[in-house]
Amino acid sequence: MKYFLDSAKIEEIKEAYHTFGIDGVTTNPRHIMVSGKPFLTVISEMADWVKAEGIEGYEKFPISVEINPHLDDADEMVAEARKISAICSNFVIKIPCTEAGIQAARRLEAEGIRTNVTLVFSPAQAILPAKNNSLFVSPFIGWKEANGEDCKAYIQAISDIYDNYGYKGKTQIICAAIRTPKQIVDCAVAGADIVTTGLAVYKDSIKHAYTRQGLETFQNAWDNTVTE
Ligand code: E4P
Repeated sequence: MKYFLDSAKIEEIKEAYHTFGIDGVTTNPRHIMVSGKPFLTVISEMADWVKAEGIEGYEKFPISVEINPHLDDADEMVAEARKISAICSNFVIKIPCTEAGIQAARRLEAEGIRTNVTLVFSPAQAILPAKNNSLFVSPFIGWKEANGEDCKAYIQAISDIYDNYGYKGKTQIICAAIRTPKQIVDCAVAGADIVTTGLAVYKDSIKHAYTRQGLETFQNAWDNTVTE
């Protein structure tokens, strides 16, 4: 299973890459806003960083960058996606799961610009991106579970459909808006290819009270072992 970092903060990306070996990055307009920097500055920093690390190319380290969310015309979406994609070969273009978005993603994939169809909230929405060769589809978890919906069956359904029709792997399922380690596990069990979340959730996912207790037990034993 791949782990992507959902962030627009370059320091967090560096930390997650070097500490946890994350496989890619996703970002969105909210993360760009929170970074406190202009859109082009943020994505240029990302482009410079992949070059410095020697991980250029979306096959090595995909970075999903979202187009202007106000666009609702496929021609305009395609034009904006081309501009963003020309900045860095790691960029995968995030396009909303709307009629214009599906058309834009289909056209972009045909010309070799990889896409991530985002804001997906149902298995039905996940089919057209796969039929039209998008690299990623992003079903959101946290937004639904915050509303009391359990997401395991929804991710399992997308995974089963992709298996049934040979889309599995070709269009990879990124479970997005993950808020807890349990949601990572639920998505992994249900057949997600990738999860994307913030650094704090990855840090939480490796903590366990018994690990801490066990370490103290062994430290005690170490300190009380007879010496030569
Ligand atoms: C994923 O690609 C999105 O950037 C992200 O998960 C969106 O949701 P959030 O900002 O509420 O976490």
